[in-house]
Amino acid sequence: MVVTLVTRDAARLEFPCASGQDVLGAAEAAGLYPPAMCHEGSCGMCQARVVEGAYEMGPHTESAMPAGPGGVLLCRCLPQGDVTIELPCTDAQVGRHKIPVREAEIEAMAQAGAGAVALTLRLRPDAELGLAVDFIPGQYMELTILGTETRRAYSLANLPNWEGRLDFIIRLQPGGAFSSWLGERAAVGDVLNVRGPLGHFVLDESSPRPRCLVGGGCGMAPLLSMLRHMADFQDSQPVHLIYGANREDELLPAEELDALRAALPQLGVTLSVWRPGPGWTGFSGTSADALDAYLATAAETPDIYVCGPPRMMEAVMSTAQRRGVPEAQIFAERVQS
Ligand SMILES: Cc1cc2nc3c(=O)[nH]c(=O)nc-3n(C[C@H](O)[C@H](O)[C@H](O)COP(=O)(O)OP(=O)(O)OC[C@H]3O[C@@H](n4cnc5c(N)ncnc54)[C@H](O)[C@@H]3O)c2cc1C
Ligand code: FES
Repeated sequence: MVVTLVTRDAARLEFPCASGQDVLGAAEAAGLYPPAMCHEGSCGMCQARVVEGAYEMGPHTESAMPAGPGGVLLCRCLPQGDVTIELPCTDAQVGRHKIPVREAEIEAMAQAGAGAVALTLRLRPDAELGLAVDFIPGQYMELTILGTETRRAYSLANLPNWEGRLDFIIRLQPGGAFSSWLGERAAVGDVLNVRGPLGHFVLDESSPRPRCLVGGGCGMAPLLSMLRHMADFQDSQPVHLIYGANREDELLPAEELDALRAALPQLGVTLSVWRPGPGWTGFSGTSADALDAYLATAAETPDIYVCGPPRMMEAVMSTAQRRGVPEAQIFAERVQS
């Protein structure tokens, strides 16, 4: 059987697929790596659409499936003959190299606002790959707890470096598998498998427009990495950060923002709190409300980078659209939680 993947920019990628083999496995065997994570039909990262040919779906989580006719998860799609499948990404977003898997040790864990942990990992030396941590700010890594099947995506908060350092900000989800391990059992020196970098949520550095970065819940890490990158390169593009939390104590420690403001003098910041206490003097409302207020007075329509849980993302996207921000100027990373 032959599978043809058609990317958003009309590239056609053909490869063989054996009977009983899933499309993702066949693609990877042919040296093609479309966006994917769990490989077990639950994360929804490998969503695609069959436009021609017969197929069956293996066991999967229904909420991970794309809506509409032909919607499939590549990791659970079993072709029954030749199939043609549309991918929601461009040709450049289909990897051509196996993503490296490394071991890393927990070097530090600290509180990062109420209910969140700042986790620092250090790569173990590797004869071939050395200690380089090479990624584009905004990308994420897949962390697997050794000896378990628990594998989750977390965005990097720091910058590429030669010292093997990986920083994450992880919001603990009550009852969550990774969250429970991190909050209750993890200790300095524990080892994790780290696979990445992955993802395409990165700055469009060719755009001359101002940038507006909108984060909520657990979506701050990639935005921090982008801002640190701008500071590192003394990028003078106008930039505004909107960060929303439910309560004041969930906001990032003030020192983080002070350091960014000092390094990026043009940075504007709106901290929005949905349910503030009586002493709160900042913006009261959701990050979508704060974006609405910002766009109402913005001199130029900015590029918008938004990262957070699904409901917050939907509210932010509809505010941006209502205020006339073209779809091509909205870059989004949905962090499931
Ligand atoms: C690209 C990407 C980047 C991400 N970056 C970040 C980041 O930087 N920081 C961050 O904090 N998160 C990030 N996430 C989210 C992260 O990957 C995890 O989804 C999140 O940490 C929850 O994982 P968990 O194992 O703790 O919870 P899970 O075990 O996956 O559970 C999630 C939620 O479901 C509930 N739940 C689980 N099982 C059941 C059940 N049987 N019945 C009812 N409820 C249940 C849990 O209580 C929990 O609230 C990112 C996700 C993606 C896709
Ligand atoms: S890779 Fe997670 S659903 Fe396919």
